[in-house]
Amino acid sequence: MKFHYPELLHGGDYNPEQWMEQKETIWKQDMQYAREAGINTLSIGIFSWAYLEPEDGVYDFSWMDEVMDNLAANGIKAVLATPSGARPAWLAKKYPSVLRMTAQRLPNVFGGRHNACYSSPDYERKVTEINTRLAERYKDHPALMMWHVSNEYNNECHCPRCQERFRDWCKARYGTIENLNRCWWNSFWSHKYTTFDEIISPSPLGEEENVAHLLAWKRFCTDNLVRFFKTEIAPLRRITPNVPVTANLMGTFPGLDYFALGKEMDISSWDNYPAWTGDERDLAVARNSSFRHDLMRGVCDQKPYLMMESSPSSVNWNTINPLRKPGTVLYQGLQAIAHGSDSVQYFQFRAGRGGSEQYHGAVIDRTGTNRTRTFREVAEVGAVLKQLKAVAGSETRNQIALLYDWNVRWSVEGAWMLHRHHEQYEETVRSFHIGLSSLGYGVDMVDETCDISRYKVLVAPMAYMMREGFGQKLRAFVAGGGTLITTYVTGYVNQELLTYMDADPSPMNELTGMHVDECDALDDRTFGHFVWNGKKYRVKEIAELATPTTAQTLAVYADRFYATQPCFTVNEYGKGRCYYIAARTDADFLYDALGWMLKEAGLEPILSRLPEGTCATERYQEDGTRFLFVQNGTHERKIVPLPKTMKDAVTGKKVYEQLEMGELSVAVLTDE
Ligand code: GAL
Repeated sequence: MKFHYPELLHGGDYNPEQWMEQKETIWKQDMQYAREAGINTLSIGIFSWAYLEPEDGVYDFSWMDEVMDNLAANGIKAVLATPSGARPAWLAKKYPSVLRMTAQRLPNVFGGRHNACYSSPDYERKVTEINTRLAERYKDHPALMMWHVSNEYNNECHCPRCQERFRDWCKARYGTIENLNRCWWNSFWSHKYTTFDEIISPSPLGEEENVAHLLAWKRFCTDNLVRFFKTEIAPLRRITPNVPVTANLMGTFPGLDYFALGKEMDISSWDNYPAWTGDERDLAVARNSSFRHDLMRGVCDQKPYLMMESSPSSVNWNTINPLRKPGTVLYQGLQAIAHGSDSVQYFQFRAGRGGSEQYHGAVIDRTGTNRTRTFREVAEVGAVLKQLKAVAGSETRNQIALLYDWNVRWSVEGAWMLHRHHEQYEETVRSFHIGLSSLGYGVDMVDETCDISRYKVLVAPMAYMMREGFGQKLRAFVAGGGTLITTYVTGYVNQELLTYMDADPSPMNELTGMHVDECDALDDRTFGHFVWNGKKYRVKEIAELATPTTAQTLAVYADRFYATQPCFTVNEYGKGRCYYIAARTDADFLYDALGWMLKEAGLEPILSRLPEGTCATERYQEDGTRFLFVQNGTHERKIVPLPKTMKDAVTGKKVYEQLEMGELSVAVLTDE
């Protein structure tokens, strides 16, 4: 189901149950302030379980009816949450199985949130019951727009039921215990299992090092969560088949494979909390956010997504929580829209008087008024989003895919190899994202399960582990004319983390036209060099030694005992080609080499000659209407050359061939 709303959404998490005793004044004021701030959506019920079901089986929807009616009367749509992110005390007391067990096998006690056991039959039943009632109650309510399922699903439980499920999962995946022993290489340290009953989850008290066992557990945790998610949404799908379902994700959160979860959602959404500093460090923060926005769009097949949460002011959970410079909230919001979000939403609409988040930024902060800088800035975002109404529902049409795969990440991070815990998978993928964006290209993030056939170029850095069928997919992609750009530490192991060898070669060898023989790890005082295209570049941290078979060498190492061995190659394969960057370099090489390789592939950037710290993205409506976004992530003014005169979509003014941008700003342009 494709979500479509004719406006960009502006709103945030709204917790009216915290103000039940003052509802005559506060709830009324909430609606007035929401209208003033140009808010057209509020997310409700996220942490309302104790108020919706005050006792087991006793429900009270009267207050929620009132809230929903208030929203409808004020033209505000509800992103209605299922309350499973936190549970009432009575529920934990009566059904202790809902509480998690730690990896040390200690049962949790009541408190906190985001800590339910996803294998608890009691939890499943209670969640199903309350979700069914919510859906029945509000299925025809005019305010209902979307389901917000739970809150920031995360992490793992090691209770006996989860152990049982893990064993069943292993049986289903490996079939026989002999096969599991083979895949996990359990002849090592005499870890051979006799029956599936002997298998337990990893723990600091036990198994912490068997890479295949650890990966299996992570895969299981995602599968178990996806199963729980499907149960949780079953009543919503049945009773409200036309209401889209989302779950708010957390960017590059390490614990779950979001691509797997994304396949079950109608629209992806995520909570974006960049740590803006107000100085030159913000460029790195902005680039990191851009990367995460693209990734979060990717998990639901590049469709428009939502920025479900962001702070309208400071957060309260970092060590130091500085205020945002004026204009940062608008920049943060438009940056989301630039990457394909159809919303700017905040945590939170109104700050509570108590609780751990009383000092967290809010549209209505602890003063309880609209006379704050934050409120004025939020209202300005609301006004700008209204001007940009035509952007709603538009999609990206990028020709470059960049691979980021949670299974690969876990495999690289778990491996005992070059730099223990410093392989830097995420940083490496991000460095390519920065290179591509700085060159003016738009990027789609994909994982190994995604369809890559629609792209011209696939950039796959450190694709260490090849899932079943991925080698085949890459071969078809390149043979059909695609350009594959890959790097060191790619195609080392199969999906079970068993190394490829001569008798069972890496699918990469054929594509790269060479085989990797050795890999050097350089410490932070040791550097290598190479010269390409007349320019000298630095090698750091990782340097592979490879022997070409059919590959053509583009550059060779200049020093150490492997001087003259190739460090940058290209191999023609079918109608396409595969580039291989065998060493980790600084950003200058990525920028220069990516620019050259993409030109060779016949790809033009969205904008060329972009000044340092700026980037460009595009969104298209079905009728071909194009929106061009230019971001300036620096605290300096920038002049961005445009190929032609365009129109500013916010002010309606013409922008001649030079776009003048203030610090931390986003320009939205349309063709005249
Ligand atoms: C999010 C969470 C919200 C709120 C916010 C504070 O991760 O979903 O409920 O706690 O952080 O920044």
